[in-house]
Amino acid sequence: MRLKEKAAIITGAGSGLGEAIARRFAAEGASLLVCDRNIQAVEALSNELSPYVPGVRACEVDVSDSASVQKMTESCMKAFGRIDILINNAGISPKKEYLEYTEEDWDAVIDVNLKGEYLCARAVSEHMMERRYGRIVNLSSSAWRSGGFAGGIPYTSAKAGVIGLTRALAKTLGPYGVTVNAIAPGPTATPLTDGWLPARRDEIVKQIPLGRVGRPLDVANAALFLASDEAEYITGICLDVNGGIAMGG
Ligand SMILES: NC(=O)c1ccc[n+]([C@@H]2O[C@H](COP(=O)([O-])OP(=O)(O)OC[C@H]3O[C@@H](n4cnc5c(N)ncnc54)[C@H](O)[C@@H]3O)[C@@H](O)[C@H]2O)c1
Repeated sequence: MRLKEKAAIITGAGSGLGEAIARRFAAEGASLLVCDRNIQAVEALSNELSPYVPGVRACEVDVSDSASVQKMTESCMKAFGRIDILINNAGISPKKEYLEYTEEDWDAVIDVNLKGEYLCARAVSEHMMERRYGRIVNLSSSAWRSGGFAGGIPYTSAKAGVIGLTRALAKTLGPYGVTVNAIAPGPTATPLTDGWLPARRDEIVKQIPLGRVGRPLDVANAALFLASDEAEYITGICLDVNGGIAMGG
């Protein structure tokens, strides 16, 4: 049990990677606050996991709204009396052609994918700094290395911003015993990629040295490692989980 007696907040836990991370963490003994703007999804997950974990609660949150994020951290404190781990996973990825993106699209993508991660990290920081313990894991994307899909400017910009956010937070929180790392998944089969990945799978797989697209469990295993005590001397990194589709730099 690698997360025994740990309490974790997971945003975007109602679907895809967040849900897989919640299931993986449950198997390792963590207490979980599963958070999403889709409350029905996290309530269903919470009901399903409750027989198997020390504690699990569902929480409705909009990560782009600081008041909502504040309530989320208060819910975790109320339920478990501590916040050991934050998995900053909630994200959106609208698919449009370059010139179709509006200013509102830009704001929405940056607000959820970049500002949302900042707000959640900010909200748990004081508690983690006081306890001199914490693990923050931010979801970026291989798009920050590869440039992403032609035209997907807001998403790629936000995910590159997550790398800067991760490093700045790592520097700021390191002296308090809090590690901050990013995961950059490559194309992974989830509802986020349902609209395009199945149709382009063969073409994409040809570009992946390990010969398949990602599975949610690949990312969940990486999140588990970075959230565990085994990673206590690792901070400010970006862990690529992409089968080799984008490397280095
Ligand atoms: N699937 C991939 O190929 C892939 C690749 C790289 C990075 N990522 C990143 O991984 C993360 C998870 O992606 P996924 O594939 O599981 O997507 P998904 O669409 O399956 O799940 C995202 C979840 O986030 C929630 N969410 C969206 N906006 C929110 C908000 N404002 N507040 C709270 N919750 C909100 C959604 O309701 C949904 O449950 C995202 O940050 C995504 O950008 C995914």
